[in-house]
Amino acid sequence: MSTFPKGFLWGGATAANQCEGGYLEGNRGLSNVDFIPSKENRFAIASGQLDPKHLKDNEYYPSRTAIDMYHHYIEDIALFAEMGFQVYRFSICWSRIFPLGDEDTPNEDGLAFYEDIIDTCLSYHIEPLITINHFDIPIHLIKTYGAWRNRKLIGFYLRLCETLFTRFKGKVKYWITFNEINMILHMPYMAAGLTIQPDENKTEMCYLAAHHELLASAKAVKLAHQIDSDYKVGCMLAAGNMYPYSCNPNDVMESIQKDRENYYFADIQVRGYYPSYALKFLEQNHISLSITEEDKVILSQGCVDFVSFSYYNSGVASADPNLQANAKGNVFPTIENPYLSASEWGWQIDPLGLRITLNALYDRYQKPLFIVENGLGAKDEFINGSVDDDYRINYLRDHIQAMKDAILIDGVDLIGYTTWGCIDLISASSGEMKKRYGFIYVDADEDGQGTFKRYKKKSFTWYQQVIASNGEIL
Ligand code: BG6
Repeated sequence: MSTFPKGFLWGGATAANQCEGGYLEGNRGLSNVDFIPSKENRFAIASGQLDPKHLKDNEYYPSRTAIDMYHHYIEDIALFAEMGFQVYRFSICWSRIFPLGDEDTPNEDGLAFYEDIIDTCLSYHIEPLITINHFDIPIHLIKTYGAWRNRKLIGFYLRLCETLFTRFKGKVKYWITFNEINMILHMPYMAAGLTIQPDENKTEMCYLAAHHELLASAKAVKLAHQIDSDYKVGCMLAAGNMYPYSCNPNDVMESIQKDRENYYFADIQVRGYYPSYALKFLEQNHISLSITEEDKVILSQGCVDFVSFSYYNSGVASADPNLQANAKGNVFPTIENPYLSASEWGWQIDPLGLRITLNALYDRYQKPLFIVENGLGAKDEFINGSVDDDYRINYLRDHIQAMKDAILIDGVDLIGYTTWGCIDLISASSGEMKKRYGFIYVDADEDGQGTFKRYKKKSFTWYQQVIASNGEIL
């Protein structure tokens, strides 16, 4: 019998673009996510291959309605409190605060909306953990400036940060600058508003935009500390270590290379400079980021306080070109690992991989770690007002046990855990509603129809007990 360390933060996570809806309310401006459809065109748009202007009128855009949390947040936070949440991770929709993105003054309706979410959390002693940017960007910044490919975005993002840091001083402690910053390489439109033009090199454009985000993140960390020395600011990585397919040294080298594609970002955000392998990669691929001396100073002065990450699956890497990535994962396809089972969406399930990832990150950075996303997307059967989701309980139990082992056996400094989609929300990769992660069932379907009523699943009571026992009873 053992518990998690005293003060460990238990809770759940959501993102504005997947739960809020209310896309025309409160003087909100339009955002990239309002133009990412569900179904067959979603991937082409999210990955920047197709410009949303080419879409026909008959598309359904799930973010516009989502689970209508815009009108339900008071009841939703009350349910989180009933589960015993000590932390709630949510994100700010940029275009609610700055509808166009480049205004001088913020939209008071948007600020008041988030202030009420924060105050409601605080009334239940729930710590707000705010992701400043989770897959959304005002449309005006895309159309007028070309989104993050333009350095000017740094200034607009900083204005957003300054507004939030000032307004919520004394109420919020934990901030994350960008959700899954490495996702820009895979979903450039969804993550950063980038549609790749015919004359553009996609890789170069993604790394250039990432450089601007990294500068913005560093500046945000510095600014946060200037505004409130109690602020803790973290980076956020889509994590999950890559295993070599075999002990062939070529496979081992390949797995190192694949991990570096993800570490590239956190290495800079934690250490404050581009690592040597990253500079070599850029040079070998003829990518010029025009990193100035001033940029180097900015990066060195904006090192994060903690490292947060999402974990859904591990991956497998091989140097053999004939071995194709045949398993799905959180956006990155990977070679199937024969030792693992998979979710209904083909994401491989690997609880020990979470312990491996925690150890790898802690060995590398020696900074407090925060798991801010983990969970099982599954098709739930709603019967008699509830869902018997033992599969979700099993998944979470195994992952929490892996966290416990990482802390108690390996000595990893893990400060908290927010499960992904603690209330059902729409899927980022597929736009589906039926890919459910929550402890709370939301009555809504693939077309945004339903009563939007909330119901407790079996896992609700289970997680309540996990939190109450500080992880002793799993
Ligand atoms: C992460 C994102 O990539 O994975 C979330 O930060 C996303 O926004 C989550 O929802 C799960 O992915 P999906 O595609 O199942 O929603």
